[in-house]
Amino acid sequence: MTFMELRSLTKRYEGAKTECVKAVDLKVDEGQIVVLLGPSGCGKTTTMKMIAGLIEPTSGDVLIEGRSVLSTPAEKRDVSMVFQKPLLFPHMTVAQNIGFGLKMRGVPKDVIERKVKEMLELVKLEGYGGRRANQLSGGQEQRVSLARALIVEPKLLLLDEPLSALDAELRLEMRELIREINRRYRITMMFVTHDQQEAVMLADRIALMVDGEIVQYDGPSAFYTRPRTRRVAEFFGWTNFVPAIQKGRTITCCLGEFTFPGLEEHDGPICLTIRPEAAVLCPEDQGYRAVVRKAVYMGTRIDYEVECLGSRLGISLDSERMYEKGEEIHIKLIPSKIWAVKCDGKTVCDNRVVWENPAPFKTTSGGAGETIAPSVLDPPKLPSEQSP
Ligand SMILES: Nc1ncnc2c1ncn2[C@@H]1O[C@H](COP(=O)(O)OP(=O)(O)OP(=O)(O)O)[C@@H](O)[C@H]1O
Ligand SMILES: [Mg+2]
Repeated sequence: MTFMELRSLTKRYEGAKTECVKAVDLKVDEGQIVVLLGPSGCGKTTTMKMIAGLIEPTSGDVLIEGRSVLSTPAEKRDVSMVFQKPLLFPHMTVAQNIGFGLKMRGVPKDVIERKVKEMLELVKLEGYGGRRANQLSGGQEQRVSLARALIVEPKLLLLDEPLSALDAELRLEMRELIREINRRYRITMMFVTHDQQEAVMLADRIALMVDGEIVQYDGPSAFYTRPRTRRVAEFFGWTNFVPAIQKGRTITCCLGEFTFPGLEEHDGPICLTIRPEAAVLCPEDQGYRAVVRKAVYMGTRIDYEVECLGSRLGISLDSERMYEKGEEIHIKLIPSKIWAVKCDGKTVCDNRVVWENPAPFKTTSGGAGETIAPSVLDPPKLPSEQSP
């Protein structure tokens, strides 16, 4: 069931030349965590502030449980917001900070005390109630902020990059806590981040925002398997883009002819995009010949730039063995890690990878688990090897 809905929500700040939030439509189901993900300056905070009632939209609407809340003041919207910086009252105790919202509402003292205790347990800060807020670590401050936002029992919790100042371990802990709170209380949450990994770990659904527009709204896995545009693909680490032509459900490019399950019909130029993990090593007679041009050790994986069929390809392989610059390897491609994207109006030829030397390639493939390899055992030679 839709809990919160944005309809053509638009914001243009006074004096600004363009809108920074452009006719955003979004439906958030009850009890879900929706992550608003996007690069810095794309309009995430502005969107959140309009939902919370902290700024007014230029046009469009915010609906909660089917009713417009634009004329409802912020404090009556049943929406709490947690910011990147905790904004606690430094000289009040932790308990006073957490209970502040209830005190403002005239809730009796004994009720506040009971609820504060409950909140301290929830955010795992039992025993810290009497501590002054300016005597806390960054992670503890953010837990207090969370408790302070939750104690008023909001129907919608907005979290604007609340973890960006914390170290990796604390972030992980806090993410788990946020998910636990979401599951236990079934509070609908909207979480802002520019960290793709964080988005994937937390979200039921991700709304990817670029330049004030939602470019894809989907479950996390869709961004790794079915990005809608090249820009989305780039944001999620797809590194190789090969110009191709699509006719109906068939894609033709220098690698051959493809179709994919779930591919929408389309006629015209597209980009075939290949994830760095799409390449796997294979015996010499079964794959493309590639020469290592650059190798970067990443711990569990090694990122390579290889030259293959006359082009540069970014791939990522297991780190069992590190191949050195100039070494020759043989690779096959996994079709489930290849996808077709629209080109966002850019020319397809500014791609990092352009196969200048098409292989005589006939394999048509689609199902997961299969690999794509040249149909000939003698792939074209690299330009450097060709006789002048
Ligand atoms: N009060 C304001 N007046 C004018 N312009 C503003 C105001 N607040 C934000 N902007 C502009 O609106 C755009 C969107 O800002 P916003 O804060 O929503 O981005 P964001 O996605 O939250 O970025 P970040 O990830 O850096 O926090 C930016 O270009 C910003 O400069
Ligand atoms: Mg922001």
